[in-house]
Amino acid sequence: MTEKYPFSKGLAGVPAAETVLSFINGQEGKLYYLGIPIEEWAEHSTFEEVALALLLRRLPKKDEMKMFNAALRSARELPPEVIDFILDLPPDTHPMAALRTVVSLLEAYDYDAKLEDLEAKFRISVRLIAKFPTIVAYFDRARKGLELIPPDPTLGHAANFLYMLKGERPSDYEARVMDIALILHADHGMNASTFTAMVIASTLSDMYSAITGGVAALKGPLHGGANERVLKMLKEIGSPENAEKYILDKLAKKERIMGFGHRVYKAYDPRARILKKFAEELTKRSEFYQTAVKVEEIMIREKGAKGIFPNVDFYSGLVYNALGIDTDLFTPIFAIARVAGWTAHVLEYLEDNRIFRPRAIYKGEIDKKYIPIDER
Ligand SMILES: CC(C)(COP(=O)(O)OP(=O)(O)OC[C@H]1O[C@@H](n2cnc3c(N)ncnc32)[C@H](O)[C@@H]1OP(=O)(O)O)[C@@H](O)C(=O)NCCC(=O)NCCS
Repeated sequence: MTEKYPFSKGLAGVPAAETVLSFINGQEGKLYYLGIPIEEWAEHSTFEEVALALLLRRLPKKDEMKMFNAALRSARELPPEVIDFILDLPPDTHPMAALRTVVSLLEAYDYDAKLEDLEAKFRISVRLIAKFPTIVAYFDRARKGLELIPPDPTLGHAANFLYMLKGERPSDYEARVMDIALILHADHGMNASTFTAMVIASTLSDMYSAITGGVAALKGPLHGGANERVLKMLKEIGSPENAEKYILDKLAKKERIMGFGHRVYKAYDPRARILKKFAEELTKRSEFYQTAVKVEEIMIREKGAKGIFPNVDFYSGLVYNALGIDTDLFTPIFAIARVAGWTAHVLEYLEDNRIFRPRAIYKGEIDKKYIPIDER
């Protein structure tokens, strides 16, 4: 009806909030957390430090880091009732559905969820960041009929996750690669899952509801689910020689190539560049890796001029695959990292909250007559 308001499908380019947490320069392919380039975080920091920096909106001091590390380690375990629930889930449940449901369930076991102050929401944020790897690892082992491995408080966040998943301690290199993958996925400005979490929180619903919504939004293949599909595609292609025909056929049919394109980046995603290096090292330039590089080459040749380049999902799948992680855990790993960004954005927004309430452009008719059901 009224066209007074500017309309942008999918809210493309529409600012929905102000933030100091992260900034994407899409034209130049740059990403910053708190103004610091992602490459610096990847080189010098840990996921734990990134998470606390996002929650505090500044670089943490030494004693703050010490307390946060201790708080994370002591909050990793799940309530026994929740563990029983995970053990009872049908083994063919998608791990993202398991994660979403367990995050929602955790609210029932946390007294802080009933409190409305930001301090309680901060405490819940720390607990959620601590528990995400445990939920994913427990569910994965439960569905495989394997014994659950309790968290090891002597290990850092990334190393502990790999340990709980596989039952053996990862090498320092493997733990560091996982740590960097988590750093790279910790936040990404305004995006579908962060926005979902913020919309829920803006109604003054609770942190568990907001983060459950974030997990639900991330589950979709246009957001977090793309790296699973990248791996499936690379398996279908099989070898570098088959890539040209496969990609050109798909493009001719106007199909999307997973792991390429981004609403904001119109240049090479800086996170993909970092992950590509690890994919190369971990796979020792396997045929699989070479197929990916060939696909990248073809896509940049065909679509680079339109600003379509590899995004973070293109190489993350190869990295996780080389670490021996099942394909359907890729998106849950994204969530393990992104819960830091979700909680930080929610806390930031709630400091000056206003409920999200956009408009729809009504395209229907008005003043129509009601027709009784027998006369339609
Ligand atoms: C990420 C994504 C959803 C962004 O979508 P968007 O900002 O809405 O971009 P649009 O859908 O408007 O696409 C713009 C143009 O680029 C093309 N395009 C975008 N991504 C493409 C891809 N992966 N493969 C082939 N063509 C692509 C579209 O077909 C469209 O072409 P047209 O103008 O000729 O119709 C989209 O690039 C995509 O579907 N990528 C694959 C999934 C993926 O990797 N997601 C993870 C993101 S981190």
